[in-house]
Amino acid sequence: MAKVKVDLKERGYDILIGSDNLAELGKLVHDQKWGREIFIITDPLVNDLYGDQVRRGFKEQVRTIELQRGERYKNLGEAGKIYDQLVKMKAHRDALIIALGGGVIGDIAGYIAATYMRGINYLQVPTTLLAQVDAAIGGKTGVNHPRGKNLIGCFYQPRGVYIDVATLATLPARELRTGLAEVVKYGVIEDADFFKFLEANAHQLNTRTFESDETKQAAFKLWQTIVLEAAKIKAKIVEKDEKEKGLRMVLNYGHTVGHALESLTRYRTYNHGEAVAVGMVAAALIASKMRMLDGEGVARLVSLLEKLELPTRIEGLPVAKLVNYLGLDKKVKAGRVNFVLPEKLGRVVIRNDVPAAVIRQVLTELGAA
Ligand SMILES: NC(=O)c1ccc[n+]([C@@H]2O[C@H](COP(=O)([O-])OP(=O)(O)OC[C@H]3O[C@@H](n4cnc5c(N)ncnc54)[C@H](O)[C@@H]3O)[C@@H](O)[C@H]2O)c1
Repeated sequence: MAKVKVDLKERGYDILIGSDNLAELGKLVHDQKWGREIFIITDPLVNDLYGDQVRRGFKEQVRTIELQRGERYKNLGEAGKIYDQLVKMKAHRDALIIALGGGVIGDIAGYIAATYMRGINYLQVPTTLLAQVDAAIGGKTGVNHPRGKNLIGCFYQPRGVYIDVATLATLPARELRTGLAEVVKYGVIEDADFFKFLEANAHQLNTRTFESDETKQAAFKLWQTIVLEAAKIKAKIVEKDEKEKGLRMVLNYGHTVGHALESLTRYRTYNHGEAVAVGMVAAALIASKMRMLDGEGVARLVSLLEKLELPTRIEGLPVAKLVNYLGLDKKVKAGRVNFVLPEKLGRVVIRNDVPAAVIRQVLTELGAA
C-alpha cells in the first residue's frame, strides 16, 4: 500500500492507498488502538457494496448507521438523528467513527466525530474519486444550511485516510468524471508533469468496462497512481495552510465560476466536477486575457477536459445572472471576487483585480448569452 503523510504535528496522519484492501482495515484499527467500539457511518448503497468487506476485518463489535444517499441529507436534522443513534447505542469517548462513502458521508461523519462528546476519533474511508483525492483529506467537516452549502462545520482531522481504489469500479461514470475534474485541477495548480501524465492516460482514466482481469488490474494501478499524486499535492497544501487562511485557497481554482454555475442552475444541470471543469476553463481564459497564461495552456486544458468528457462551455445561461452569482461567491473578500488564475500549467496565483469586463467577455466566449 502506498502511503502519504499529512504532517500536522500532533494532528498528523497517513493516507494509505491500495486496492482490494478494505478487509485489512480492521487489523490496522486494532493495532493502532484507534477505538474500542466501531461505528460505521455510510449510505445504503455503499453499505450494500462494501460494508461487509469492512466489517469482516474487525474483531470488535461493529455497528452501522446509515444516512440516505444524496447531498440534501447532509444537514443538521439528519446529523441530529445520527447523534440520537450514537447516544442510544451508548457510544463512548473511545469510540471510533468510520466514514465509509463519498464526500457527503465524509463531511457529515467528520462533523459528528468532531462534536460528539467534544470530539472522538474518526477515519475517512472514501469510496468516490472526488472523496479520495479531495474531500477525505484535510479535515474540513460540515453540513449544509438551507441558506447555503457547507455553512456549518469545523476543521477536525481524521486519524487516517484509508483508500481502496477498487471501489471506483462500481462508481457511476458521471461520478468518476466529477473526481477527474478535481484531479486535473491539481495538475494545473501544482504539477505540470502530473498534467502531462493525465494527458497521456486520459482515455484509460475514463474507462471502466474491463475486458479481463488483467485490464482491470491495470486500471486499478493507474487509479492508484493518480490518487497517490493527487493526495500528495493536497496533503502538501493542507500542511502549509490547515485552516484555509491563505494558500489553501488555490484549491478553489475553477470554483469561482463553478459555484456560480451550480447556484444559478440550482445544482441540477451540472454536478460539482462538471461545474469546476467549466470554471477552470473560464479562469484559464481570464488568465490569458490578462496576459498570464499562453494560448497553448488554455488549449491543452480544454483538450484534456474534452477527452475526459467533461464540459468546457456554458451554453445558454445569462451572463448578467452569472455575474450576479459571482458577487455572492463565498470566496469574496472585502467586496472583490477572488480568482485563482494559472500563470502556466502547474502554477497559479490568487488575484482579486479581474476587471468585470474581462469576466463578462470570457463568459460570453464560453457560450453564455
Ligand atoms: N471536506 C472537503 O474538503 C470537501 C471537498 C470537496 C467536496 N466536499 C463535499 O463532498 C460532497 C460530494 O462528494 P461526492 O462527489 O463523493 O458525492 P457523494 O458523497 O454524494 O457520492 C455520490 C454518490 O455515489 C455513491 N457512491 C459512493 N461510492 C460509491 C461506489 N464506490 N460505487 C458506487 N456508488 C458509490 C453514493 O451513494 C452517492 O449517491 C459534497 O457535499 C461536497 O461539499 C467536501
